[in-house]
Amino acid sequence: MTAPDDVLAELRALRAGDLPTHGGRTLAYVYDSAVPGLDDLAARAHALASSVNGLDPTAFPSLLRLENDVVATAARLLGGTAATVGTVTSGGTESCLLAVLAARESRPGVAAPSMVLPETAHAAFHKAAHYFGVRVVAVPVDPKTFRADPDAMAAAITDDTVLVVVSAPSYAHGVVDPVEPIAAAARERGARCHVDACIGGWILPHADVEPFDFSVPGVTSISVDLHKYAYCPKGTSVLLHADAALRRAQYFASADWPGYTMLNSTTQSTRSGGPLAAAWAVLRHIGDDGYRDLARRALASARLIRDGVDGIAGLRVLGAPESTLIAVTATGEDFDVFTVADEMRARNWYVQPQFAHRSSPANLHLTVTAANAGNEDELLADLRDSVAAAVAAGPVAVAPEVVAAIGALDPDSLTPQEFAGLLAAAGLGGGGVLPERMATVNALLAAAPPALRERILVEFLGVLYS
Ligand SMILES: Cc1ncc(COP(=O)(O)O)c(C=O)c1O
Repeated sequence: MTAPDDVLAELRALRAGDLPTHGGRTLAYVYDSAVPGLDDLAARAHALASSVNGLDPTAFPSLLRLENDVVATAARLLGGTAATVGTVTSGGTESCLLAVLAARESRPGVAAPSMVLPETAHAAFHKAAHYFGVRVVAVPVDPKTFRADPDAMAAAITDDTVLVVVSAPSYAHGVVDPVEPIAAAARERGARCHVDACIGGWILPHADVEPFDFSVPGVTSISVDLHKYAYCPKGTSVLLHADAALRRAQYFASADWPGYTMLNSTTQSTRSGGPLAAAWAVLRHIGDDGYRDLARRALASARLIRDGVDGIAGLRVLGAPESTLIAVTATGEDFDVFTVADEMRARNWYVQPQFAHRSSPANLHLTVTAANAGNEDELLADLRDSVAAAVAAGPVAVAPEVVAAIGALDPDSLTPQEFAGLLAAAGLGGGGVLPERMATVNALLAAAPPALRERILVEFLGVLYS
């Protein structure tokens, strides 16, 4: 056996190669409250329950109690009533998947179910469409505000629509869709309306935004992630339904085998009690007042960064973000925002490249958390310097013939060998090792139509996990 200290030393050494998860320098993927002792509390709570199995809440009633507590807290925050019910899931994607599944299952008479999404809705809904055979009707958003267009959304609803989705806020631009008119239109047509508040649900109740929660007539479900702005460890989200009848179709039971009757509320069957216990402990420790303070800090920090970005020549913020997510684009063509991302990386910041999509130009995504309070000036100074460096480097040039060649490729007919060649040409062929600077890789990927880009990146994932 290897000594526990040696095992942990090995793990620590591996972790040293990761982006930092604390300190506010990684502006995507991670959420840092900067509350002292929170990690330790969560780790201890996780350890207390990680061997417990949520598969059978009658055998492990502690988990039943924890889940009901967590769901009640989320419902209270999001305008729930005495009828509101919910489920703790493993993350935002699972919550969205289950909302789509429940909507589809509740309308068995619809032969070709579809769901109406603003084109800014999270990709989790495309995954749900893929898994559950629900057709996506993607509706253009306002090209300036990036908010869903209520009239266009209403016009897209048909008798086959089982679900209408809105975001509060959207991941890509951090704006809140007009929930009231869209939920009203869904209700009028007998369709469910899901508010994807996965990322903003724990913050928006403390921000000055239009109503987006269960107080809005027609809202039938809301997803809100605990592992985002509730600052819980990864692995928990809540899917709320306005009442138990709406949730029923999300559940699954099978007595058609010789073992125990499988009875599941989520896509998982065995469920570790660890993430739930850790989330419960964090929610209890921080409490309502604590979350209000954390939300205010993150919102104030985001405002400072947003205003600061607008003061940097060559950059502008897309739309008018109302929460803590900011999308920053270039005002001209003299540099590439993806080069700015590389320059920021060289200055120990991670900002996330977002490719152009319909009316949204290529941009950099920033998830601002409470841990950014106090480091805004440093961030903005480094952003300004990064733009200057990107201007000095000039735009990344991809030869027009390369763009044309990429555009002509059909992802469905390419062989594994051809994909290997493409990966190498895109700079992704180094056995899964990414180049230090990604702007050229991103420029090539940006030239690929989305379906080809998806395939190239799926091949790349295969390389990583081999
Ligand atoms: C609006 C929204 N929905 C869904 C998700 C998916 O959440 P997860 O990554 O936890 O699966 C995210 C993630 O950022 C999100 O921002």
